[in-house]
Amino acid sequence: METTRRLSRIDRILDDAQRALETVLGSPAAVRPNPAAGQPDVVLEESERRHAAGLMRVNHVGEVCAQALYCGQAAVARDPATRAHLLEAAQEETDHLAWCAGRLVELQDRPSLLNPLWYASSFSIGVLAGLRGDGWNLGFVVETERQVEAHIDENLASLPAADSRSRAILEVMKEDEARHADNAQAAGARILPPPVPSIMSAASRVMKAIAYRV
Ligand SMILES: [Fe+2]
Ligand SMILES: [Fe+2]
Repeated sequence: METTRRLSRIDRILDDAQRALETVLGSPAAVRPNPAAGQPDVVLEESERRHAAGLMRVNHVGEVCAQALYCGQAAVARDPATRAHLLEAAQEETDHLAWCAGRLVELQDRPSLLNPLWYASSFSIGVLAGLRGDGWNLGFVVETERQVEAHIDENLASLPAADSRSRAILEVMKEDEARHADNAQAAGARILPPPVPSIMSAASRVMKAIAYRV
């Protein structure tokens, strides 16, 4: 019995490590079709291309962080239903990750060089949140998804008008994030007390400022 439990814990750790490596170094494949398919790939002015690439790099980092956060939370979730919920959300973020990575290639740019750091810090935050209990776990999902949704809105307003490919991707992502928040809410999320939401928002502002450039 003890050996089985130890083996399943080792399995989980190996799973987590594999997912981390795939997210940070690999090119995870999307399950759903790319929303940008069918949109024209317009050649942007250099300043517009750089701006669009900066925004899409930030979005890509956001997805790396979402994966890491949910995997960290899932690693310590007590209730199997919460764990399944978190891993399902992480799986859906894989599409977003792949679409943002693909758009960065089209924009002749690259993901953030600091992705291993973003992943490690978000995974740690996820573990800390998860250790507080499943209500907190889901509360973190709701707050994260709502903040990402607001951030995507800002991006949609800021993208160059001609960049309909990035816009198509972000519109689908926004719908998905809203659904992730609603699902977590329905699954029993607790409302995070102040100053947690403000700290999360301040941390994501720092991340966005850095990832836009590096
Ligand atoms: Fe996402
Ligand atoms: Fe999401």
